[in-house]
Amino acid sequence: MSLIVLASASGSPGVTTAALGLALGWPKPALLVEADPTGGSSIAAGYLCGSFVPPEAMIEMALAQQADSILEVLPQVSQALPGTATKWVPGTRSHEQARTLVSLWEPLAAALRSLDATGQDVIVDAGRLGLFGSPEPLLYGADLALLVTRTDMVSLSGARSWAETLRERFARSGGSAALGVVLVGEGQPFRAREVSSVLQVPVVTTVAWDPESAAVLSNGTEPPRPTGPSRRVLGCCSGSPAAAGGKTRPCSAACEGHAARSPAGSASTKSSCRLRVGGLRDQ
Ligand SMILES: Nc1ncnc2c1ncn2[C@@H]1O[C@H](COP(=O)(O)OP(=O)(O)OP(=O)(O)O)[C@@H](O)[C@H]1O
Ligand SMILES: [Mg+2]
Repeated sequence: MSLIVLASASGSPGVTTAALGLALGWPKPALLVEADPTGGSSIAAGYLCGSFVPPEAMIEMALAQQADSILEVLPQVSQALPGTATKWVPGTRSHEQARTLVSLWEPLAAALRSLDATGQDVIVDAGRLGLFGSPEPLLYGADLALLVTRTDMVSLSGARSWAETLRERFARSGGSAALGVVLVGEGQPFRAREVSSVLQVPVVTTVAWDPESAAVLSNGTEPPRPTGPSRRVLGCCSGSPAAAGGKTRPCSAACEGHAARSPAGSASTKSSCRLRVGGLRDQ
């Protein structure tokens, strides 16, 4: 499996948090690609607290695509996530920019899939489905496409119509086995079995409801229990959803990688994150 794409149907169920958690805990070298057309890098502003001004990675790749050289440019625009072996391709600065990338997604999907030959797996944050500039070709070209949702009625009602669209689309292309659901907050109130039956898509993994740990990844806050939740997390994230053999596996949102990655080392705190907000002005 080389290309895993996560997206949501509605709300903000935790796509970015889950994608980052997976990438940081991935058992093989992983490349995390931010392809959310909303614009503004959630990793730079959230996890890295605005401490890093990302390059125009997507624009560089769109230009490279015209010269058929995405694979040459990809390593140049990939950034290291501090303290980890995980690489990261920052997303677009704005939703306007994302609109110009429509022709990038298909060749990018092919390029990302080809990284399998180098032993690298790719995890993509595709953001919310249906937005203009949405990287749907990445989703349809994935080895595993994951619809991320919470389990309340409102979330499931939003996820249901997209689940239907995706099922049909994958069935038409003969790839229905590559579609799955990631449940954030299983049992609140519905369980995986119930969700699978409503959406008619298998739940391949679950992410535990854990706001404190999630904020480490989504907002760059200090880990709540520095030696506590991390191991739990990697237990799940290190196993790919596919490796779960179709069974759901619980997964906390936080990752061990966090402690090592902090741009300011162990001194990184909520307040240091606020101090770095100036970094946003340059993004
Ligand atoms: N497992 C979780 N437990 C508790 N809170 C979570 C969990 N995952 C994510 N969250 C929280 O939910 C909020 C949204 O998370 P995130 O930004 O990852 O969602 P998203 O689906 O990427 O949203 P968007 O569509 O706006 O990009 C954040 O505050 C994050 O900390
Ligand atoms: Mg997001």
